[in-house]
Amino acid sequence: MIHLNDPRHRLLETATPLQRLNRLEARTGRAGLYLKRDDQMDMALGGNKLRSLEFWLGAAFAEGADMLLVAGGAMSNLCRLTAAVAAMVGLDCVVFHNAPADAASRDRAFLNRLFGAELRFLGPVGEDERGAAMRRAAQELKAAGRRPYLVGDAVVGALGYVLAAEELWNQTHAAGLALRHVFLAGSMGPTEAGFIFGNALLGNPFAVHLVSVEYEEAELVARTQLIYDGLARHTGFAVPAFATLGVTCHMDWLGAGYGEPTAEAERAILTLARTEGILLEHTYTAKTFAAFLALSTQGALPAGEAAAMIHTGGLAALFSQFDLFRSLGPGGQDPASCAAFP
Ligand SMILES: Cc1ncc(COP(=O)(O)O)c(C=O)c1O
Repeated sequence: MIHLNDPRHRLLETATPLQRLNRLEARTGRAGLYLKRDDQMDMALGGNKLRSLEFWLGAAFAEGADMLLVAGGAMSNLCRLTAAVAAMVGLDCVVFHNAPADAASRDRAFLNRLFGAELRFLGPVGEDERGAAMRRAAQELKAAGRRPYLVGDAVVGALGYVLAAEELWNQTHAAGLALRHVFLAGSMGPTEAGFIFGNALLGNPFAVHLVSVEYEEAELVARTQLIYDGLARHTGFAVPAFATLGVTCHMDWLGAGYGEPTAEAERAILTLARTEGILLEHTYTAKTFAAFLALSTQGALPAGEAAAMIHTGGLAALFSQFDLFRSLGPGGQDPASCAAFP
């Protein structure tokens, strides 16, 4: 059992489901396809950031914080879940959005307002400037007697997915399932690095596949490795060097870049919705699922080896992505369900 010394405030009482995709298996003729349903969590539409928030909240309480500060885009899953968790535990929450202070941004940040967070719109600034604005505000708040905790430390946030690797291992073990391949969205790195670190502590039972949805391969690897090494220092656990672990990056599903829709992602959304009744969104999970399905059904992975994708949630975004669907969006023709199937 992996034992972490960091304070953890439990938000998730039970393991998220590991669901076998029976209809998809039948339709593709490929056995052994699973989804780890981290979109199925009790709070605020769920998603990967809730696992991280258990440790950010633990740290905040350990420091005696009386409010949470968080920064992100107007549709950020991190901001939504932080606002929800702050409401749940009775802390104030200030959200810094790098978006213009207009009606469209306020609409996109609707759920954060619903959870009672204070929103500050910084205009269309970059990530560095956004972080600097949050740190400046934290100093001002401290000077005024408040005790803010800045949500987002990558290493602390990654701890949630160290435990997720163990949770998945326990589930497969209990089910007698020899799960081999695990697919994750490749983005800023905490989720990926945490899972890879947990997997390394377990003896590397899973072959980890990162599907880039944001960066070029070198940057994805560098970001993930930096957090992985940070976890080793932070926890004191001895783990193999990142480069020896055999993590595979898949770059062919990124398309024109972060948040840019692709035909494969659209088809992935339709396919999963129409075979299993499960939702994906364009930015993270649809591209990851497209890669997972293509690689596991088109001979890239040995047919006898079971494969799972971790569904990291983010489904609130789907409701603002209507225009991204070429087939269903404004003026689009609804494809027949069979035509939508690869
Ligand atoms: C739904 C969803 N999946 C995956 C990710 C990627 O996680 P990470 O930032 O840990 O790479 C995010 C990040 O915001 C997300 O919101």
